[in-house]
Amino acid sequence: MNRSSSAEGETEAPKRLVVAVTGASGALLGLRLLQLMHGVPGWETHVVLSPAALLTAQQELGAGREAFQQLATRVYPHKDIGSSIASGSFRTEGMVVVPCSMNTLSAIAHGSSDNLITRAADVALKERRRLVLVPREAPLNLIQLRNMVAVTEAGGVVFPPVPAFYLGLQSLEEVATQMVGRILDQFGVHLPVVKRWNGTRAPADPTTPQR
Ligand SMILES: Cc1cc2nc3c(=O)[nH]c(=O)nc-3n(C[C@H](O)[C@H](O)[C@H](O)COP(=O)(O)O)c2cc1C
Repeated sequence: MNRSSSAEGETEAPKRLVVAVTGASGALLGLRLLQLMHGVPGWETHVVLSPAALLTAQQELGAGREAFQQLATRVYPHKDIGSSIASGSFRTEGMVVVPCSMNTLSAIAHGSSDNLITRAADVALKERRRLVLVPREAPLNLIQLRNMVAVTEAGGVVFPPVPAFYLGLQSLEEVATQMVGRILDQFGVHLPVVKRWNGTRAPADPTTPQR
């Protein structure tokens, strides 16, 4: 019996993913994730944008709140800590913060939850749900590294947006799609658009007799 058919007669419930976009560089990743999830049947996206995310989205994409809103199932105000995703009783498959600023990383690592993003992340950790943070900063100082360790120790996944150089991707769009696809793998959403490595063709072994 699966999660969504636990009660007799209950119809298949949509799966919910909480998506937070914060003010680190890489607004494209948040938007691309929502674009990909938009086409996935049976899933809802519950989205929160920080005020700084709106700044970076404007700066990097020339995009405003509407660009995210039209792809999301629902968008919540950043300060609305009374909304559904602030409670563990609201069932979700977990949460992704993409991109994740060092500010939000720090708040999550220290259990501070004075806005809806950090509260929802706190909920994901306490409910032992999947929490994936996609931090973007370089180089990293010791405080930031320790914050990543703290989140990992608490059960979160730190997933830096590192390009798959070995795949020969040609454009930023392709790189972003691959990154986001690999992030969605973490939630069991396996998209055909993701390139999968099937091993190199091994060079001939000189110790093996040739036929
Ligand atoms: C254009 C721009 C790019 C930024 N890039 C980063 C970044 O890559 N990583 C980061 O941690 N903060 C970055 N910041 C700073 C954050 O936006 C800032 O720390 C903010 O307070 C984060 O708030 P939030 O966590 O509520 O989104 C950037 C800010 C701007 C305006």
